[in-house]
Amino acid sequence: MILYGASGHGKVIIDILERMGITDIAVWDDADKEPIWQYPVTRPGAPADDRVVIGIGINATRRKVALRLGDGVHYATPVHPAAWVSPRAVVGEGTVVMAGAIVNPDARIGRHCIINTSASVDHDCIVGDYAHLSPNATLCGDVQVGEGSWVGAGATVIQGIHIGKWCMVGAGAVVIADVPDHATVVGNPARIIKTKQADE
Ligand SMILES: CC(C)(COP(=O)(O)OP(=O)(O)OC[C@H]1O[C@@H](n2cnc3c(N)ncnc32)[C@H](O)[C@@H]1OP(=O)(O)O)[C@@H](O)C(=O)NCCC(=O)NCCS
Repeated sequence: MILYGASGHGKVIIDILERMGITDIAVWDDADKEPIWQYPVTRPGAPADDRVVIGIGINATRRKVALRLGDGVHYATPVHPAAWVSPRAVVGEGTVVMAGAIVNPDARIGRHCIINTSASVDHDCIVGDYAHLSPNATLCGDVQVGEGSWVGAGATVIQGIHIGKWCMVGAGAVVIADVPDHATVVGNPARIIKTKQADE
């Protein structure tokens, strides 16, 4: 197994892999980094037949690395044994589901997402590729989160809301209205405080 990204987020992924019984882990990073525990960190090589998980918390960077690695890479989908993922949910390759997270029936989660500690994804939600649901974020039923969007810690999105692509939902926000692409929203009720350019 290759973990690409010797970050704090990567550490949590190592913990999950170990809990899944996987200890043959090569850790790669683009920068020189200290070992993570017993795992030395080396520069990226060719993934060959190994499975890969990208341990980079920044959504846009995770996407860049996935695009750089290109097609033909086999991605792992680590799910902590203390998470609950309904057998009727779909979780895309390269996505990581952390301890205490819940993914309910007919939820569809894209590739290379982070479903962080104790995040909750209710029935029929659709989460786009490279999205990140932070610890304790709650998506009520039928919510859609667009590609690359980041839902902050403890934020709640009420049922049926659509959050666009590459949005930021601030920690603790309560989202009760749709959020357009690239917007940052905070507060209760959530309000837009900025909108990024598409290429930012
Ligand atoms: C939303 C967020 C990205 C905004 O960061 P930013 O773009 O640097 O914005 P600023 O810190 O300049 O704040 C802009 C304004 O929004 C307010 N604000 C920022 N984050 C807020 C939040 N989560 N809730 C309520 N208000 C918030 C600030 O107080 C400030 O208000 P002011 O203009 O009246 O002074 C950030 O505050 C946040 O919540 N990040 C999520 C962190 C998180 O969940 N981490 C989990 C890691 S796994």
